[in-house]
Amino acid sequence: MHALVVASTRPEVIKLSPVMREFEARGVDYTFVTTGQHYDDELFWSFIRDLGLRTPEHNIEIGSGSHAYQTARALEALEEIILKERPSVVIAEGDTNSVLSCALACAKLHVAFAHVEAGLRSFDRTMPEEVNRVLADHIAEVLFAPTEGAALNLIEEGILPEKIFIVGNTIVDATLQNLEIARESSRILEDVPEDFLLLTLHRAENVDSRERLAGIMEALFELGEEIVFPLHPRTRKRLKEFGLLEGVRQRLHLIPPAGYLDFLMLLSRAKLVLTDSGGVQEEAIVLNTPCVTLRTSTERPETVEAGGNVLAGVEKADILRTVRRILGDESVYSAMRSAKNPFGEGDSGRKIVDTLIKLEEEGRLKITPPSKVLRRKRREFITADASLAGKRIAELPFRVVRVIRSGRARFPFPELLLREGDVVEVAVREFYRCSEPFRELPQDRSTPPAL
Ligand code: UD1
Ligand code: UDP
Repeated sequence: MHALVVASTRPEVIKLSPVMREFEARGVDYTFVTTGQHYDDELFWSFIRDLGLRTPEHNIEIGSGSHAYQTARALEALEEIILKERPSVVIAEGDTNSVLSCALACAKLHVAFAHVEAGLRSFDRTMPEEVNRVLADHIAEVLFAPTEGAALNLIEEGILPEKIFIVGNTIVDATLQNLEIARESSRILEDVPEDFLLLTLHRAENVDSRERLAGIMEALFELGEEIVFPLHPRTRKRLKEFGLLEGVRQRLHLIPPAGYLDFLMLLSRAKLVLTDSGGVQEEAIVLNTPCVTLRTSTERPETVEAGGNVLAGVEKADILRTVRRILGDESVYSAMRSAKNPFGEGDSGRKIVDTLIKLEEEGRLKITPPSKVLRRKRREFITADASLAGKRIAELPFRVVRVIRSGRARFPFPELLLREGDVVEVAVREFYRCSEPFRELPQDRSTPPAL
């Protein structure tokens, strides 16, 4: 197998590092590409060093610019790289403009695109990340969903379960692989107050509006806590433009974007983290640090359901009330600290590589025109009776896409045992007969057998 790994921003490098490590350990041939969306040492190169990754073989150097500019430039250059490298699969993670370009380049060249962290949804199409992840998922041939909930989001959108693999989130691997190293090598805790809250903020919808950004800052000032704030360059630029930077510098403990190992130390030691980052919501629950998300939606609802994360919104009063409640009530605080990480055991990198190798052996990474021409596809519903109860999904003679049990959807895991009363949703496909393509013949219908 020859894989192309495309990682172009801070979170992508972190989350694909366990996959690259696994490739290295197993001697799988891979080429590392960055579009150059993040290019500063503190947003990109320091992560390559901290994580012990090799220098990317290709750097497209798109740099900063509008969404259209970044996406178009990366698309054009990725096409050339894919044509030159001829990979059996292209792997990207997450929801940045670079990931969308990567998916589009693969689709046009009929090269398998594997999407790591598939199925996350904020259900807010005004977020650039939501559009990117929906499109990337619909292009992908292989979708690595972190949780059953993410997999069900994909099924809800019509993606078939055979393309979906629930593998946990590689952020758990990265955190567990690097925490000890961070403890030994990071000195960042010497430079920050003993008792502190950690803050990260960079989402366009929070920092590109003066009113929104000023409101969030006022709430944080009023908290009266020591707040350590590693400043993303986008946020620095906006705070300066809006004339807020000096005020923030006086009230919060501003530091440059932290290196990965330093950030792990800060997050593991912080009393609580306030963030609008996706990755930080996940790391916080792995490190048992209570998380307050400064947004009105999250594509990581599992962290909220597990009890480790609270969506505070972006209004000053809501932020103040939420943080005071957590810090002011020991039982609330300790319940948040003991929330269980819903993203797996830290073996996602291995599962991803295992799956890709198996799919390649089975010839499932090749994209070819369909051998049978589809006329129509639809869903049918069967209620499991006594004859189906106890059967495994894998042994049913039809394509199950979802099982509804006691009103709740379940992913059709091959080993899931049916129970009487389960509603089984089945994908039905009707084909034309290809031998006589110009005349519509009676359909070759594959329907579920009569029960
Ligand atoms: C991007 C992603 C976002 C992700 C984030 C990770 C999109 C639409 N957004 O947001 O989903 O959460 O990365 O951090 O893809 N800049 C620098 N140095 C750099 C890179 C950027 O100073 O190395 C500054 C530039 O002024 C640039 C701004 O940051 O205009 C924003 O960078 P950009 O990559 O467009 O978006 P992010 O906000 O980083
Ligand atoms: N991170 C870091 N230094 C910082 C802030 C974040 O190393 O100063 C890491 C953090 O460990 C997490 C990742 O960056 O894994 C999250 O990236 P970011 O918040 O930029 O993007 P998102 O996850 O929201 O896409």
